[in-house]
Amino acid sequence: MCGIVGYAGPAGSAADTSQRPLDVVIEGLRRLEYRGYDSAGVAVVAPDTAQVSSRKKAGKLVNLTDTLAAEPLPNATAAIGHTRWATHGGPTDRNAHPHLADGGKLAVIHNGIIENFAQLREELIAEGSRFLSETDTEVAAHLLAREYRLAGDLSAAMRATAKQLDGAFTLLAVHTDAPGTVVGARHDSPLVVGLGEDENFLGSDVAAFVSSTREALELGQDQVVTITADDVTITDFDGNPVEPSPYTVDWDASAAEKGGYRTFMDKEIADEPQAVAQTLLGRTDRAGHLQLDELRIDEALLRTIDKIVVIACGTAAYAGHVAKYAIEHWCRVPVEVELAHEFRYRDPVVSEKTLVVAISQSGETMDTLMAVRHAQEQGAKVLAIVNTHGSTIPREADAVLYTHAGPEIAVASTKAFLAQLTAAYLLGLYLAQVRGTKFPDEIAAVLADLREMPAKIQAVIDSGDRVRMIARWMDSRSVLFLGRHVGFPVALEGALKLKELAYIHAEGFAAGELKHGPIALVEPGQPVFVIVPSPRGRDSLHAKVISNIQEIRARGARTLVIAEEGDEAVLPYADEVFWVPQSPTLLSPLVTVVPLQIFACELATARGLDVDQPRNLAKSVTVE
Ligand code: M6R
Repeated sequence: MCGIVGYAGPAGSAADTSQRPLDVVIEGLRRLEYRGYDSAGVAVVAPDTAQVSSRKKAGKLVNLTDTLAAEPLPNATAAIGHTRWATHGGPTDRNAHPHLADGGKLAVIHNGIIENFAQLREELIAEGSRFLSETDTEVAAHLLAREYRLAGDLSAAMRATAKQLDGAFTLLAVHTDAPGTVVGARHDSPLVVGLGEDENFLGSDVAAFVSSTREALELGQDQVVTITADDVTITDFDGNPVEPSPYTVDWDASAAEKGGYRTFMDKEIADEPQAVAQTLLGRTDRAGHLQLDELRIDEALLRTIDKIVVIACGTAAYAGHVAKYAIEHWCRVPVEVELAHEFRYRDPVVSEKTLVVAISQSGETMDTLMAVRHAQEQGAKVLAIVNTHGSTIPREADAVLYTHAGPEIAVASTKAFLAQLTAAYLLGLYLAQVRGTKFPDEIAAVLADLREMPAKIQAVIDSGDRVRMIARWMDSRSVLFLGRHVGFPVALEGALKLKELAYIHAEGFAAGELKHGPIALVEPGQPVFVIVPSPRGRDSLHAKVISNIQEIRARGARTLVIAEEGDEAVLPYADEVFWVPQSPTLLSPLVTVVPLQIFACELATARGLDVDQPRNLAKSVTVE
């Protein structure tokens, strides 16, 4: 939550009005706006000025850029920018970042939550600091000012400040005494460095600077970084130098653009076949055996595990639910799926024989990160399925399996979900190979089926017009979703998409649960999506769902059925059918979820809502 950008580089000449530092920061904020969009602000340090110059504005980034057009900032050699998701203090101009201190010579931006802010605030007020906002961040600004007065050096002051803060934070600061310098610190919150030619960058993620450079440095936990136009210095909080880990971003700026689509979500749905194909790429050796090189966990250890626990939040947790069906079926090892924040705060039974699988698109979700640490403290090995390179969860996990979905900008997860499913299938098949619970030819057959899925997903996308039309006509205040087996997590995901995008009541149920209560919700005209399993799968499962459709239709439900091509048994009971290509049961979520994503996207668009940035949400939930 919150997007952070920092830049150090040459100022334009007097004749040059391009203002590169400010332009870079605004462009970075535009790309990071998906992380939070309550308010935005920038600060620049022009050489030979007595004060930092800043502008900040509540609302979306456009409010800030309009303000900058009316009240321009001076040309500078360093700039910082922030796009906010409010935690402490409402989304007002005053609470927007940057926050100034030291008589306006110092500016600070922050992502995270400073848990001991109340106590620090009292101390600082007693010492004479004047607070202008209700934020926890302003405490860091005044604390940094105090430490700067003692140390006379911004990096040293940042280290001293960071050591006094509890909670999670990324901080960036500029000071008029060091006009071409930006200093950053991170603890449990993301920050990456971009390396340019005669200029350097800082960002919450690489999207902040990928249009300028794809060369990046990972920052570790509890590190302070100082950038100038031609230097990057990294230390730990004690001032010991740290050897940085460089990497090259494997996507370019165009991947983070809308590319002609109405919204990022439309584009990301269109990207789904590629996201699945890329995630499958290069995972087998010449003999066709699965080779998950990045896994870094000894095969002997994988043979000893007696339980798998999947931890994740939101959509990623639903990918975990599907993984449970596949892994238990292929590997005969019990799999539990738990929301990361619930796992973390109960007393889970895990041991060195437990494999914990953490699924996260961003790799920064605080609940999942805390659960990862908790599992490791109990002796479990953690394997991360993550989309974002350079993020914290894969760095701290014992093993990683990257999804290759490319950047996902829309707050609602779509292509990352399909890539997570794909990675989970790969993991299940790999465990079956290592543990010998499937014959090699059986594994090869599933892999062959998986390789056919991108074309099938494309077919669903290509036939999306009917579901779009139904979405545009939908006037109900509530939509229900039913599924059995792997259709159940798909139902949950369909409901989540509709809630977060269209703000209407939506609930997913296991179809078998219907008569245990939820059927009471069904009244004449109630729209109910039903995900019907393949009739070629387990016979009884298909027949049971057909019975469920009859039961709700008898009570007046309007049935919107997702069924496999050729499944004529659904026709008498369906008000609408959305056909998906025939697929093996365990892999079918890769196609059955797509109409539900399209439905939610279209319904929200038709209602004039902001599909990419739904209210109250942010892409990465980096606070607990
Ligand atoms: O980055 P993560 O995969 O860890 O994020 C987990 C959830 O916050 C995320 O899936 C969220 O539920 C999405 N907004 C759903 O569309």
